[in-house]
Amino acid sequence: MFQKHIAGKERQLPPPKHIAIIMDGNGRWAKKRGLPRQSGHAVGSEVFRKIATYCRDIGMDYLTVYAFSTENWKRSEEEVSAIMGLLKKYLLESIDEMAADHIKLHFFGDLSRLKPELLELIARTNAISDTYDGFQVNVCLNYGGRDEIVRAARAFAGKCANGEAKPEDLSEDVFSDLLYSAGIPDPDLIIRPGGEFRTSNFLLWQSAYSEYYFTDVLWPDFTPHELEKAISAYQHRNRRFGGAKP
Ligand code: IPE
Ligand code: IPE
Ligand code: MG
Repeated sequence: MFQKHIAGKERQLPPPKHIAIIMDGNGRWAKKRGLPRQSGHAVGSEVFRKIATYCRDIGMDYLTVYAFSTENWKRSEEEVSAIMGLLKKYLLESIDEMAADHIKLHFFGDLSRLKPELLELIARTNAISDTYDGFQVNVCLNYGGRDEIVRAARAFAGKCANGEAKPEDLSEDVFSDLLYSAGIPDPDLIIRPGGEFRTSNFLLWQSAYSEYYFTDVLWPDFTPHELEKAISAYQHRNRRFGGAKP
């Protein structure tokens, strides 16, 4: 949309190693077709699988996806349980396919609010993932950027209270290590399909210098071609990190 195109290949950035996606627009996609919102989520979850495989195939290191926010509990019971049902289906299929797929799954968010059957499946996928190296998908579930920051602050305050740390020990690196994303580099590129121009509480800390790409395409219509468009736009950006690179 507002990407700046710089002529000449020599100016291109290398492809992003870590892409994050706010998978938005499922409900509107369904509404346009006169279908229940759940149908949009069902198609959206298939698109997620396809895009994750594509990201692995093009040699990325990390894909982080926003699947369910701390605010999404405000939706109807019916919609929330449909999303949780799709998640269960996705995890069961992933457990079956992981040996062939070699996609590591990792979860960001407060999982304590999820049903025990989901927690058990997450534990199984984590155990399998631990035996792999390589491409990793981080699924954000009951995730909120503010919640993540508050938890990290609370964890550090706890260390101070029990004498394990002093306030002056806190640095950006120490704080980063208390987030769900500990040890994972910040996303290079954050894509938001669905036509909205906001973060909706996604990766607030980690996105400090991420490049954003917005598109009107609704998530269930998102394709590898759309992803390539976002990557190409990213490669023509000029990342300065506060410096004065020409
Ligand atoms: C994103 O699609 C999926 C979740 C938030 C779980 P939406 O359900 O928000 O779709 P729209 O934005 O209503 O179209
Ligand atoms: C963001 O989308 C959350 C996910 C995609 C999981 P929302 O649909 O919840 O965001 P808002 O409400 O439009 O800001
Ligand atoms: Mg939405």
